Amino acid sequence: MRLAVVGAGSIGLAIAWRAAERGAEVTVHDPEPGSGASRVAAGMLAAVTEAEFGEEALLPFMAESVDAWPAFAADLERASGIAIGYRDIPTLMVGLDDGDRAEIERQAALYRSGGRAFERLGGRASRKAEPLLSHRVRGGVLVPGDHAVDPRALHTALLAAAERSGARILAERIDDPGSIDADRVVLAAGCGSAAFGLPIRPVRGAVLRLSAAPGQPRPRTTVRGRVQGHPVYLVTRRNGEIVVGATSDERGLDPTTGTAGAAHDLLRRSIDLVPEITEYHLTEIAIGFRPATPDNLPLLGRLDERTIAATGHYRHGIALAPATAERVLALAADDEAAAEKAFDPLRFKERS
Ligand code: GLY
Repeated sequence: MRLAVVGAGSIGLAIAWRAAERGAEVTVHDPEPGSGASRVAAGMLAAVTEAEFGEEALLPFMAESVDAWPAFAADLERASGIAIGYRDIPTLMVGLDDGDRAEIERQAALYRSGGRAFERLGGRASRKAEPLLSHRVRGGVLVPGDHAVDPRALHTALLAAAERSGARILAERIDDPGSIDADRVVLAAGCGSAAFGLPIRPVRGAVLRLSAAPGQPRPRTTVRGRVQGHPVYLVTRRNGEIVVGATSDERGLDPTTGTAGAAHDLLRRSIDLVPEITEYHLTEIAIGFRPATPDNLPLLGRLDERTIAATGHYRHGIALAPATAERVLALAADDEAAAEKAFDPLRFKERS
C-alpha cells in the first residue's frame, strides 16, 4: 500500500511510523514538521484527568490509548534510539478554595464514570504524596495509572523512527490532497486541516517551561489544580524541566499578544499550589494552537474512499497518538469496525 500522510506532527508521524514498519510505502508531507501543537504540549498521558465534561464519548478511546502508551514508548525508543522522557507518574488533583474543591469532586465523578481508579486524600496525605504542595491545599484526589512523556523528544523520536522504517518526509505544502499520488491519504495536519475544509478551530494555549537545578526539590507527581476557578497543571520531567500550563482562548492564530498576562496568571496559580516554583529558572513561554472541532471530539474516520481524517485531537493529541495510529491503519486496511460513530469526520455535514 502507498500511504500519504499530510502533517508531520505527533499524530501524522505516529501513523507514518507504524504504517512503514508494517510494510507500507509511506510519504509524509509537511513544510515544517513539528511546527504545530506537538512541540508545545506538556505531555500528560492521562485517561480521564485531561477529559472535560461533555467529552464522555472520548473516555474509552483515551483509556485505550493511555493503556497502549507503555508499549508504544518502549517500541519507539527501540526503533528510534532516542529516549522520550516517558514516566509512569500519578496525577494529584487539588483545589485551593471551596469552589475549586467542589470542582475537583465533580471531576472525580467523571473518573468514576471512566472506570479509572482514584483515591481521595486529606491534606496530610496529599502532602505525603506531593511534599511540595502548599499548606493551603487541604485535600486532593490521587489518580495512579497516568503517565507523562516529553513531547519534544517524542516528536524527534517519531521523525527518526518513521525515517528509519522507510517513510519519506517531504518538506512540501499540500494544497489539494486529491493531487497526491497514493492509495490512501491521511489528513493529520492539526489546525492546518481547516485548509482542507475540515471543521477545525484553533484554541490558543500558553505554557511555561521552568527548570530545577540539580538537587533542587521538584514535584513527584503531575499536579493538576484549580485556583479560584482557573485550571493549572505542572508536569515534571526527570531532567528537571517543569512545564506549567495552560491558558486557553480563542483569539485566532496570533502567537504574539497577551503572553505577559498568560505568564503572570500561570505563575501565580502554580505558585499558589506549589510555592517552590518561585525558586526555579523560567526558561520559556511557548504558545500553541490546539486543533478543536465543534464538539471537541476528534475527526477520525473516512472522508471518502481514499481519504482518512486523523485530526481535531484538541487537548489530547499526544495521549491519543498510539490509538489513533492503530485506528488509521485499520481503516486504511478497510476494517470498518475501526470507524467510530462519535468521531465520524462527516458528522457535522450530516447535521446541517
Ligand atoms: N493537554 C493540555 C493542554 O491542552 O493544555
